[in-house]
Amino acid sequence: MRLAVIGTGYVGLVSGVCFSDLGNDVVCVDKLENKVDMLLQGISPIYEPGLEELIHKNKEQGRLNFTTNLAEAVQKSEIIIIAVGTPSLPNGQANLSFIEDAAKEIGQSLNNFKIIVTKSTVPVGTNEKIKQIISKYSQFPFEIASVPEFLREGTAVQDTLHPDRIIIGATSDYAKEKLIKLHSPLSENILVTDIRSAEMIKYASNAFLATKISFINEIANICEKVGADITQVASGMGYDKRIGSSFLKAGIGYGGSCFPKDTQALIQIAGQMDYDFKLLKSVVEVNHEQRFNIIRKLEALLGDLSERTIAIWGLSFKPETDDVRDAPAFEIINALLQRGAKVRAYDPIATENFKKCFTREEVQYCLGAQEAAVQADALCILTEWSEFKNISPEMIESWLTEPNLIDGRNIYSQEDLAKTKLNYYSIGRPNLNKGVKEIEPVLLL
Ligand code: UDX
Repeated sequence: MRLAVIGTGYVGLVSGVCFSDLGNDVVCVDKLENKVDMLLQGISPIYEPGLEELIHKNKEQGRLNFTTNLAEAVQKSEIIIIAVGTPSLPNGQANLSFIEDAAKEIGQSLNNFKIIVTKSTVPVGTNEKIKQIISKYSQFPFEIASVPEFLREGTAVQDTLHPDRIIIGATSDYAKEKLIKLHSPLSENILVTDIRSAEMIKYASNAFLATKISFINEIANICEKVGADITQVASGMGYDKRIGSSFLKAGIGYGGSCFPKDTQALIQIAGQMDYDFKLLKSVVEVNHEQRFNIIRKLEALLGDLSERTIAIWGLSFKPETDDVRDAPAFEIINALLQRGAKVRAYDPIATENFKKCFTREEVQYCLGAQEAAVQADALCILTEWSEFKNISPEMIESWLTEPNLIDGRNIYSQEDLAKTKLNYYSIGRPNLNKGVKEIEPVLLL
């Protein structure tokens, strides 16, 4: 099939590249000339394992192209996929201006019948709005459909090529059949729904996963108080098929481009219908507070943080990505600087992106994990990069001035720490305090 994909962000680029790998003729469109130039040279603007190789392969085989010319791309294609961003407005609502611009331009460009698919995460009813805008600018017939994308950063190619399910929200039998045919090489689990339900499935799925994370983080906080171990608790819960073991990793909360934005947007969508989504509001609040767990633990160990040197490992919101959008590192580092601490930070690949977005200049960015940790009074791990997992706690102990390790992602085991003198505070597990003061679990009798 001939496809045009509008927007070369995570969703658009990865979907476009993967569809070309399945043998379709794909042209990806973006307004940003330098991004399109990079892609034409085979360079991926995002770090995503396996993506650049697929760009090279499919470009060379003539199935994948990149352009800034939306009209031409639309005219040559049978299916147009809208994958532009829907960032948050200050009130949490999704900003639909990129979607509306794309719809207008598509309308102005139509030359015959097309199926227009939205992959961007959009509030319920947006596809109908897209239909109205396109109709305003075009006399040609077209069909709209909603096919939400569930890929995760860091495993985007794998997730796109092997998704758990495909949701196709469409009206006509023709659009349904065509889209089932396009997606059938990807999954056996194809669920065809109405358009509004497809739009809702994406928000509901992300909100549910965010809820799982905030839930396990609250259980972790309670575990700390009663002397239980969240790793064992989560593992015991996960064996129950009704609960499932994924998304039960306690830590310093979720970040990224989707969960924070989509939870806020769903709260807004509900609010506009006079529905107070209390549960989801609490999920967001718990997630926000969880980031400051790191600061509370540091203060328990060091007291006043002013003039203390704190090493930070990990700036991206999760490993295997250079994406720093809504990463917990922003608020944690900001809180440290506000308390007068000196911050030395290292990330395997996200430092440049972080620097661009973090406005305060006091942070010292380091080129290696060791450089950040040497002579620090404490080390905080904010992202579970495998590079960090491969550094032994003994090594960390030898680098630090004071033996304080705060592990915000539970990457080390208690056994790993046994041979060291490190004070080790993780999330939802008993503290290993070798020197300063023991925090006794509260005994509920
Ligand atoms: C998410 C959804 O998983 C994906 O389906 C959707 O399309 C986009 O949003 P992504 O943001 O790339 O994907 O990352 P994901 O792996 O889901 O992690 C999101 C955040 O949750 C990260 O900050 C991660 O650290 C955190 N997380 C995840 C936890 O804290 N605990 C967990 O058990 C799982």
